[in-house]
Amino acid sequence: MGKIFYVTTPIYYVNSEPHIGHAYTTILADFLKRFYRMLGYDAFFLTGTDEHGDKIAKAAAQSQTSPQAYTDKISGIFKSVWSDMDLQFDDFIRTTEERHKKVVQMVLQKVYDAGDIYFGSYGGYYCFGCERYFTEKEMVNGKCPDHDKKLDYIEEQNYFFKMSKYQGWLIDHIKNNPDFIRPERYKNEVLSMLEGEALEDLCISRPKKRLQWGIPLPFDENYVTYVWFDALINYISALGYPEGERFNKYWPQSQHIIAKDIVKPHGIFWPTMLKAAGIQPYKHLNVHGYWNMEDLKMSKSLGNVVRPMDLIQKYGDDQIRYFFLREMTFGLDARFSEASVINRVNYDLANDLGNLVKRSFNMAEKFFNGEIPEGNGDSVGLLALQQKFSEAMDEYRKNVMAYRFNTGLEHLWEFIRYLNKYIDETKPWVLAREGKKDALGCAIRNLLESCYAVMVLLSPILRKASAKVMDALGMNGIGFNENLATLRSLKAGNRIQDVGILFPRLEKEEIEVMEKNAEKKNSVQEEGLVDIMEFSRVDIRIAEILEAQTIEGSDKLLELKVDAGIDRRTIVAGLAKYYSPEYLVGKKILLVANLKPAVLFKRTSNGMLLAAKKEKNDPPILIEVNPAIPNGARLS
Ligand code: ME8
Repeated sequence: MGKIFYVTTPIYYVNSEPHIGHAYTTILADFLKRFYRMLGYDAFFLTGTDEHGDKIAKAAAQSQTSPQAYTDKISGIFKSVWSDMDLQFDDFIRTTEERHKKVVQMVLQKVYDAGDIYFGSYGGYYCFGCERYFTEKEMVNGKCPDHDKKLDYIEEQNYFFKMSKYQGWLIDHIKNNPDFIRPERYKNEVLSMLEGEALEDLCISRPKKRLQWGIPLPFDENYVTYVWFDALINYISALGYPEGERFNKYWPQSQHIIAKDIVKPHGIFWPTMLKAAGIQPYKHLNVHGYWNMEDLKMSKSLGNVVRPMDLIQKYGDDQIRYFFLREMTFGLDARFSEASVINRVNYDLANDLGNLVKRSFNMAEKFFNGEIPEGNGDSVGLLALQQKFSEAMDEYRKNVMAYRFNTGLEHLWEFIRYLNKYIDETKPWVLAREGKKDALGCAIRNLLESCYAVMVLLSPILRKASAKVMDALGMNGIGFNENLATLRSLKAGNRIQDVGILFPRLEKEEIEVMEKNAEKKNSVQEEGLVDIMEFSRVDIRIAEILEAQTIEGSDKLLELKVDAGIDRRTIVAGLAKYYSPEYLVGKKILLVANLKPAVLFKRTSNGMLLAAKKEKNDPPILIEVNPAIPNGARLS
């Protein structure tokens, strides 16, 4: 099979306009499409809008328009914002389109005919925001944890999909394909939902007397299709399932990107639906965390929604794409602040990359009148550069393919920093002064070649800057090929053009504030040094989590029973927002065993587990230790 890549974003609800959360996922998909195309793949990128269901019907009613007129308007806004941001989707699917409705009805009929859809009655707690029922276990104090709203109890007759029938198959499929859902924490989350208890069948219809805005069931005109059953099918309807050429070509290589809010529909509903319809499962589900505003979720009611176009106009599109890819660790939440955008622009783009290009071009201008020197008479560290570049390129490629974007970029930046050091160490100005023309030519050629190679790899992100540099080197339209790593792609004698300042530095008071804060932190650390005796008083041991449960009334704390080797005890940990109890059970952790007991929510906490975070507002990451270390072993 040829090199094929198919990437999708969620289809977004049209009950609000796009914000940076939506933009992040869409930027990732656009980047991946361009990245894979650069590597010679036939890559296809799908996005779109999710237009049926209660939520949309209500939003339309509120704005006093018909659902169709309302969805036309907001869907159009999504489409034009993505186009304004130069996000080049290959198709944009709307669930109100005929081509989609037809496939939804076809799949429903197929599953119905196979006997996997039945009629029954059901009562349960329903969240209108999420458009789904919640199990007792998923509710927090009777509320939906995402919308923080009391759930309504609803009882009615409906059609059900026999999802439970595929529970065992799905568990096996996830276990046999370890990358099916990634990163691992979300695979574990789905497995814990599946292994914890019997999977319930999925209610896939809504009576028309309650909701008309949906796709009619092909086998009962009194019902419309549940919006999630309808929406998920977009990933194949857009490809022209069942016979479309696109479907045959792209579906086997399908990769979905979503955030953690919609793991259950994508990790459980969708693969079981596909299985029941006799369609092979998608290849990967890639789940990222949330962008939060200074620790708060972005929401209209909090008035902290950031509009992607505002950011782009203020900072530039290359800059924003780079920021998104570099700043977030895929899978974890990240904090958005303009100060962190400024930091990335100033340090990574202006200082490291911008300076490298500027210095290299200036020297070529000064010493060779702007002509790319032959540079074959000497080597001036060429071998080391080739090796470093080829390592950086491999790591970048490998990590991007595994959705570790920030790690991939960090490897390229190590090379960029190495090049800046290369200038400082080879001192071309000294070579010029000493008349070492061959060595000078080679050093400048090496630098221009390295700038070119780096900019080629960054071209799916820094689109404008890369095109500028590539054009300026006379390499217009010539991109990636496997020979890039030889650092001998440019034509000697070509006259280079001026690239100006690629990334102007941003000046802001915020920078000062940040720097002051950092200084303060450092001086506190100096004063706060501990000696070895003081440290040895802290008894840190390996402990195993035996039980974990949420605490009523607290959305932050979990009650844990641990085996600390020396005893079994209860501790209370502030992890509820970041880890599910199921995930924690069985984990070996580091326990501060001689901490004074503390009473929290009427429970006595006898110790503290250790977690780590880089910044104060980052989510804590539990320190999990090698399971081979026995409980009670002491840190020494
Ligand atoms: O859930 N941080 O649509 P939706 C990062 N229609 N990403 C975010 C985000 C944030 N703060 N907020 C939103 C739906 N997103 C359904 C999907 S798919 C068959 C149906 C992104 O408009 C992220 O990709 O609520 C998340 O999964 C998606 O928007 C939810 O978009």
